Amino acid sequence: MDFPYSRLRRWPDVEADNLQAHDATDLLLGERALSLGIDGHEIAVIGDEYGAITLALTSAGFDGVRVHQDLASGRRALARNAEELGLAGFSSHELDATLLDGARLVLLQLPKALAELEESADAVARWAAPDVVLVAGGRVKHMTIAQNEVLERSFVEVQAQRAERKSRLVIASEPRPVSSEPPFPLTAQHEGLTLVGHGGAFAGAKLDIGTRVLLDVLGLDGGEESNSGTTVVDLGCGTGALAASYALAHHEARVIATDRSAAAVASARATMAANGVGDRVTVMHDDAGSEIADASADVVLLNPPFHLGSSVHTGAATRLFEAAARILRPGGELFTVFNSSLGYRAELTRLVGATEQLERTPKFTVTRSIRR
Ligand SMILES: C[S@@+](CC[C@H](N)C(=O)[O-])C[C@H]1O[C@@H](n2cnc3c(N)ncnc32)[C@H](O)[C@@H]1O
Repeated sequence: MDFPYSRLRRWPDVEADNLQAHDATDLLLGERALSLGIDGHEIAVIGDEYGAITLALTSAGFDGVRVHQDLASGRRALARNAEELGLAGFSSHELDATLLDGARLVLLQLPKALAELEESADAVARWAAPDVVLVAGGRVKHMTIAQNEVLERSFVEVQAQRAERKSRLVIASEPRPVSSEPPFPLTAQHEGLTLVGHGGAFAGAKLDIGTRVLLDVLGLDGGEESNSGTTVVDLGCGTGALAASYALAHHEARVIATDRSAAAVASARATMAANGVGDRVTVMHDDAGSEIADASADVVLLNPPFHLGSSVHTGAATRLFEAAARILRPGGELFTVFNSSLGYRAELTRLVGATEQLERTPKFTVTRSIRR
């Protein structure tokens, strides 16, 4: 495909010489769409990280392509890449009927979580045209048979293609009849707290063990307290367990829950409604709380992403520590829970301020940092 892929940028995500804003799967998906000759208005893209698929098609003359991206950072990168390349004529959507209505070709970058794939596959079977073809692609090293099995729950025909350039496409067609209710979001009760989780949300509707440890330390497991005027931010809120618990325990606090994932944000909004605190908690789709004013928060609650052994993920936690330092007023408190083996205390002290350990279980550590 004659498209200047190397001009795409990842910003606001981390940029480095060895990190590109496209991969071989993007190219394969784009080439497949070109070869099928379907009208742009009948094409939907799901999981276009930085816009490589949507923009390559738009640049090739396809008008009206629809795209869904989960991450706020990816949405910003796509918008900026489009502007830089002078491309327009596509539209961005949530994972809903407006994305898929009448679509005859859906291009999907396979997500890591099977639940996320299941929700997307169901959405395509539910809302796209009856003759829709779903072309899903991924890096061979990340692909599993379980992904095909998930696709087979929503499609009669599922065919894996030959690997090319270390990527592979799987083609699904003939959508099966869908159940009256979509499989997601899931809802679960946890001792006075209701959690609602979409497929792409961390821990689904379960209460993460680390989150539970932080809730215990904060004494947010029941009871009400007046804490008027306090502004509290649940940074990287996922399904919103921390924000909802805080709002239930502190009636007069102003609570903001924010996450970069649209699946998390939709889950957190539903969680707030299910716990009757929807009017007191603002849920924002944003990257590292960038829209929250400097020095505006009294308390930040943080359960950062952790993936042992991957420098990318350690970097992800660091970004949230920096964000917490920016958002907190001097003297404000950051409560963090993390896997004990990660030893974040020195970094928290350096980036935020004096950090003490409040709890240490065999697996998790909870710290409190006071913003200097
Ligand atoms: C370990 S989960 C914790 C979720 C939730 N707070 C809980 O305790 O159940 C980390 C969350 O941080 C979010 N996240 C990671 N990087 C982020 C960023 N740069 N900006 C906003 N959210 C981010 C992820 O999407 C994920 O939902």
